[in-house]
Amino acid sequence: MNSKIRAKISAVGHFLPDYVLTNKELEKLVETNDEWIRTRTGIAERRLLKDPEKATAFMAAEAAREILKQRDLDPAEIDAVIVATITPDYMFPSAACLTQTMIGAKNAFAYDLSAACSGFIFALSSGAALVESGQCRKVLVLGSDKMSSIIDFSDRTTCILFGDAAAGVLIEPSEDEDGIIDHILHSSAEGAESLMQEGGGSRNPATHETVDKKMHYIRQEGRIVFKKATEGMADVSVAIMEKNGLTADDIAWLVPHQANLRIIDATARRMGLDPEKVMINIEKYGNTTAATIPLCLYDWRNKLNKGDNIILAAFGGGYTWGATYLKWAI
Ligand code: UT7
Repeated sequence: MNSKIRAKISAVGHFLPDYVLTNKELEKLVETNDEWIRTRTGIAERRLLKDPEKATAFMAAEAAREILKQRDLDPAEIDAVIVATITPDYMFPSAACLTQTMIGAKNAFAYDLSAACSGFIFALSSGAALVESGQCRKVLVLGSDKMSSIIDFSDRTTCILFGDAAAGVLIEPSEDEDGIIDHILHSSAEGAESLMQEGGGSRNPATHETVDKKMHYIRQEGRIVFKKATEGMADVSVAIMEKNGLTADDIAWLVPHQANLRIIDATARRMGLDPEKVMINIEKYGNTTAATIPLCLYDWRNKLNKGDNIILAAFGGGYTWGATYLKWAI
């Protein structure tokens, strides 16, 4: 009986810090220029959370509060809080436990999920499964990353790419056929050393040496990751279309992870999609890791119609990659 429950997204919320870091300002920090950044990545500006007292859980809680307000919900009604993040406030307690307490979701259980830029898609699959199994009726799935906390602002190959933000959704049982229909998720650590943060975990705990060697920052071999990401995101997007018998005409929107405009364009081309069906806001926010996909859903929320076929797709560190097929249910 429980297998008949379909999960749906019933609300979308977000949080963006006020501080805008423009390409022009980055020109003062590292040897780069606005034109290079725009043409190679599509990014014009990104947001930074400057307040040292605030971090990932704060942003996730703000996004969650917006969702609760939209649905006029008492936080005590929330059954579970999942925060997708690679920049939790602490190693433990989890950002999700902090978020849960900040919003007063006192009856929920909460946990973090680490799948880097695919974090939201992985967390959505977990959250949907909690609803589909009948274990939960209201699950908050939030993507939140304070990327500025792991960025070396003297490294021009990474500091231009990332921004801070949170966004997320509420998942509830659907009353009809609309909702979350299918997921394809993949991961592999083969070649994953091309995109990682080496320090701070149990392999390289913090020492003077790890700090001196800048091991607590993101390190990326951009060209290698670019190739992997372009293949991975396009392959999995085409695979979920084929698995569900969808043609490009059937799809209303592609919601791609926002890492690089060229990766997004290549994915849309492989799917045969018109560019106007692709959500792109990378120019305003850069790569906000686990927040990019729900941030797109938030920005486009007024253009979405009930029953729209939507594909979410991402590729990121781990490596992790995946796609979700859903019918918009609001
Ligand atoms: O979201 C998680 C997954 N991450 C991704 O999907 C990111 C994938 N990678 C990328 O998006 C791109 O590789 C980057 C945007 C990071 C870099 O673009 P690229 O076209 O791959 O550039 P490149 O690394 O091949 O560098 C080309 C040139 C190099 O100079 P030389 O060696 O050709 O003389 C770089 O040193 O551009 C130089 N360069 C820069 N120039 C100005 C690298 N960074 C910059 C910069 N400003 N910020």
